[in-house]
Amino acid sequence: MKKIIIAIDGFSSTGKSTIAKQLAKSLNYIYVDTGAMYRAVTYFAFHNQLIGEGFFHSEKLIKALDDIHITFKFNKELEFAEVYLNGKNIERDIRTLKISKYVSPVATISDVRQKLVEQQQLMGKDKGIVMDGRDIGTVVFPNAELKIFMTASAETRAKRRFKELLERGHNLSYDEVLENVTTRDRIDSTRKDSPLVKAKDAIEIDNSNLTIEAQLERLLKLAKAML
Ligand code: DC
Repeated sequence: MKKIIIAIDGFSSTGKSTIAKQLAKSLNYIYVDTGAMYRAVTYFAFHNQLIGEGFFHSEKLIKALDDIHITFKFNKELEFAEVYLNGKNIERDIRTLKISKYVSPVATISDVRQKLVEQQQLMGKDKGIVMDGRDIGTVVFPNAELKIFMTASAETRAKRRFKELLERGHNLSYDEVLENVTTRDRIDSTRKDSPLVKAKDAIEIDNSNLTIEAQLERLLKLAKAML
């Protein structure tokens, strides 16, 4: 059967990864969360004192890029591939507000992007992949057969992320989360290299009022029409 590349881009906390994961499972495709890769680089930078409150040694981070090896390993119980940094499982550690705060500045660095985009393109060379991020339909796979651009209001997204973080035991306020979501939107959409923009041929889905089931049904229909 013909295999395609499905690119899902959009603002932070639009629920891209939830839907991309389920779509990949239904189609028996590989799912790749590229945000996890930018978060892994940020985790490395943070733990090597290259980024922190009021400082960012971007040149040192660029020099250290060869020491950063990001891999994914499928977790059968969780039914998705978890991210590893130099052999260490960091899937949970990269989902904190601290890493969310520093990830957008790290993702503006062209050398970082180049390294990760190369790796992402290799992962998709045999197609049969659902990849989510910010520049998948525009830069990583401009020829992807199906491109989706997910949106939802900043408040809807902040509410979702706040609930998720509270459930995981993080102690923070809704305002902090909203501030993080809107700041990331701004940095991600205005950076020079590969800003978050909707590809011309992407289908926009505002999921503020859509259930996960309804989104999945819509995406499956779109994907199957391409097969
Ligand atoms: O999808 P996420 O929220 O986990 O992504 C974290 C950050 O990584 C996001 O704020 C911007 C950056 N990112 C990017 O620049 N390009 C991608 N393809 C994916 C994420």
